Amino acid sequence: MKKILPLKHELRGVFEIPGDKSVSHRAIILSSLGNSIVEISNFLSGADCLSTISCMKLLGVEIEQAGEKILVKGNGLNGLREPENILDAGNSGTTLRLLMGLLAPQKFLTTFTGDNSLRRRPMGRVITPLKKMGAAIVGRNRNKNLPITILPAEKILRGIIYEMPVASAQVKSALLLAGLYADAPTTVIEPAPSRDHTEKMLAAFGARIEKSGNAIKIFPTDKLNAPEKISVPGDISSAAYWLVLATILDGSDITIKNVGINETRTGILDVLKNMGAKIGIINEKISGGERIADLKVVASENLRGVEFGGEIIPRLIDEIPALAVAAAFAEGTTIIRDVAELRVKETDRLAAIVEEFNKISPDTFSATDDTLIIRGGRKKIFAECKTRADHRMAMSLAIFGAAAQGVSIDDADCVNISYPKFFDLL
Ligand code: S3P
Repeated sequence: MKKILPLKHELRGVFEIPGDKSVSHRAIILSSLGNSIVEISNFLSGADCLSTISCMKLLGVEIEQAGEKILVKGNGLNGLREPENILDAGNSGTTLRLLMGLLAPQKFLTTFTGDNSLRRRPMGRVITPLKKMGAAIVGRNRNKNLPITILPAEKILRGIIYEMPVASAQVKSALLLAGLYADAPTTVIEPAPSRDHTEKMLAAFGARIEKSGNAIKIFPTDKLNAPEKISVPGDISSAAYWLVLATILDGSDITIKNVGINETRTGILDVLKNMGAKIGIINEKISGGERIADLKVVASENLRGVEFGGEIIPRLIDEIPALAVAAAFAEGTTIIRDVAELRVKETDRLAAIVEEFNKISPDTFSATDDTLIIRGGRKKIFAECKTRADHRMAMSLAIFGAAAQGVSIDDADCVNISYPKFFDLL
């Protein structure tokens, strides 16, 4: 149980945020497939990325942690070995789905499990296309859920053309990783662009990868050339809480340094700006193939409700709980369409937002199957809320309470998944 008191003053300061979770996972996985030692800096030592490290170690990869730096000794594309135990992906959908793609083509057996949340999340979306490539995979609940076993691949996988029913960077990445080992190129077609860190990093490792509209084509190879160093940008999904809090607390003025602003991730900046937030993007540069910048935010006196949906959703999917907090402080109604995917995140985030956020601001939040509606400007009260073991719910509830009349949250430790030092900074 953690009690957050109302913040009585504005936010001020210049600070950094932890490394990007998505990029940290990919840096470990791809570095494991090169043939040299890679030094990864600003790696996110959150529980999710540590799950990826422990799985890769069980697959025979040497990984050393030296302070903020991680050293990965690549075993080559064909150097993974059969794990002696079950791979536990913990709470991490990214670990599980990316590794399913990587392990489907291997000539050995792997079994995966995960925590209570991950065991409920849909995995058919990865198993179905991997089976089309010829992989042999079985899972609980008619191949939809963990535990999942990947049988040794008897034959080389087939390159396929696959139209994804949902925009998911995890599914796309799984297929691109499997495609490295296939007999012909694999093309993945997305309904809307999702984060493209896998594509960018595969290209940086020398893989042949082509993009045309929403189609991404990976060519099989037998070697990746790892860079000597990878510097992970700051995570815009972790910056989101401070972007929102500084926007709604009068008199705030903060600068967040070295934030990744890959355009497949910056939907939150577009929406906050449309709502009337004052966010400046300064010192823009490219670092390790990813765009980074400092984000300067000053408080906005008149935030207004907005409507959005469609293609922008994958560009801000993890930031919707934080955006919902901003919308509760805005004038007028905010309508967020096409967010059914929120129902299959670490928890059903649509239901969690409606049930838990309404405790802080009654009659503010409602939802249909795939739409979130927020009526801004209502009275806020102190409340006792449940995180449902979801890190992004915990952090959003914390900033909501801090900007309102305080909040007590039942399970604050779940922030360790993506932002272990969140409460220290708050
Ligand atoms: C991620 C992709 C997204 C996102 C998740 C991280 C990734 O999930 O919500 O937090 O690193 O590829 P989906 O692929 O399920 O949309």
